[in-house]
Amino acid sequence: MNIVITGANRGIGLALTKAYIGRGDHVYALCRNSSDELNSLNAKVICGVDIGNPDSLSTSLEPLTGVEIDILINNAGVLGRESLSDWEPATIDYQFRVNALGPLLVTQTLLPNMHSGSKIGLITSRMGSMTDNGSGGYYGYRMSKAALNAAGVSLANDVKNRGIAVALLHPGFVQTDMVNNAGDVDTATAAAGLMQRLDDLDLASTGIFYHANGEILPW
Ligand SMILES: NC(=O)c1ccc[n+]([C@@H]2O[C@H](COP(=O)([O-])OP(=O)(O)OC[C@H]3O[C@@H](n4cnc5c(N)ncnc54)[C@H](OP(=O)(O)O)[C@@H]3O)[C@@H](O)[C@H]2O)c1
Repeated sequence: MNIVITGANRGIGLALTKAYIGRGDHVYALCRNSSDELNSLNAKVICGVDIGNPDSLSTSLEPLTGVEIDILINNAGVLGRESLSDWEPATIDYQFRVNALGPLLVTQTLLPNMHSGSKIGLITSRMGSMTDNGSGGYYGYRMSKAALNAAGVSLANDVKNRGIAVALLHPGFVQTDMVNNAGDVDTATAAAGLMQRLDDLDLASTGIFYHANGEILPW
């Protein structure tokens, strides 16, 4: 299978790249800049893909022209740590661009490469859940991931008649740079769970918000 992953140079994206290659899939590893670890894998690395820059996105995705995509994983994301007394419009705006608009634009650009049976994974967060928000703060991250969730449900509806399924996936609290490695699962465990969810995904389960461990999460 051909797998496309954004933010593949480190963290969960790198672990997904490693795991898909390990099971014999072809991975197109998208990133702004590669890393030694990514370069050491047998992935097709495509650099210069800044999902927060709508002006450069279609050009940077040109190397994928004509490539059939079986699974697209929109993984790249950013986390800001605003509190009510300490936030800037610009940082919230940036998180919207990267976390919500970016995956939508990447998906729209690459839809012509997808076919009936293709799958789209949106790596979101339970921090975008209203029901799950018991602690407040994190305005930009929560708002942008909630917006991504809204986009994902629209997308699921819009591409269903093409036979394409969409999963909204929370990876767990994962040991990566994003959380200063404070998570309770490692990246390999998170990647394995995310891959299982994508393997199980079909048109009957499209548009559902899942934890990587299989639990269905509330909006
Ligand atoms: N770790 C967790 O506990 C956790 C929990 C819930 C959800 N998530 C989600 O999981 C996904 C992966 O996060 P992670 O934990 O692996 O974080 P990470 O280690 O910080 O990695 C983030 C990845 O996103 C890329 N990225 C950021 N901004 C980008 C941009 N404008 N264009 C292209 N790539 C960009 C980074 O590339 P650069 O190296 O170029 O910055 C990096 O590859 C994110 O969507 C995150 O919100 C993580």
